[in-house]
Amino acid sequence: MKQSVKLIAGNWKMNGLSASLAEAKALREALDGEPSAHRVALCPPATLIAQMAWALRGGAVEIGGQDCHAKASGAFTGSVSAPMLKDAGAGLVIVGHSERRQGFGETDADVAAKTEAAIAAGLEPIVCVGETLDQREAGKAVEVVRAQVLGSLPDSAGTAAFAVAYEPVWAIGTGLTPTLEQIEEVHRAVRAAMVERLGQGGETAPILYGGSVKPDNARDILAVPEVGGALVGGASLKAADFLGIVRAA
Ligand code: PGA
Repeated sequence: MKQSVKLIAGNWKMNGLSASLAEAKALREALDGEPSAHRVALCPPATLIAQMAWALRGGAVEIGGQDCHAKASGAFTGSVSAPMLKDAGAGLVIVGHSERRQGFGETDADVAAKTEAAIAAGLEPIVCVGETLDQREAGKAVEVVRAQVLGSLPDSAGTAAFAVAYEPVWAIGTGLTPTLEQIEEVHRAVRAAMVERLGQGGETAPILYGGSVKPDNARDILAVPEVGGALVGGASLKAADFLGIVRAA
């Protein structure tokens, strides 16, 4: 399905102090002068969400978190809940990023619980899936990603706004990207799995591609059928690079 309004989301990961808000403000000012037809979001570290929401108020840039706890509150020292992100000014949240799945042992069931918590808090979750290099080389990319989609989406996603991000683990931060044919193959499989899991509720949510998206490859990637946007890490830290991607969409 051709999606005309794409979602271009920047994931700052564990980068950014208050001084970095200058980049967010530069992005906002550029988009004020040259509005995009697409949705543009930044997902800074949780510590910056409230400041960024204040600095960008009234502008087009949406704000998201990078993770949330599955519970709304409680004795979970160090964790941030979905209602807290919402309260701080976020409208979206990334869940199940491979750096969470691999580094923090998050399972599909954990990701489904977090996605459910995000939806319950009124956030739009961006649910990440993607195969490792070993899995791709074993010819299992589609199978792995299908299982992740089936296991990571809660029933409530069927009637909520959400997105899925296909991020091959081997393409994240490496400068490597799949071929456009490989991206299309997996995105079609993600769509099929979303519909298998949610029925009609899985037909229209955008499927973002993530993994070494840069200004110079964004146009081709974003033109692939079923690519409904991009999740951008490194190239979202500088307003000029991120704008290059937004303009290519
Ligand atoms: P990258 O990261 O653009 O730096 O490859 C993407 C991501 O991890 O979301």
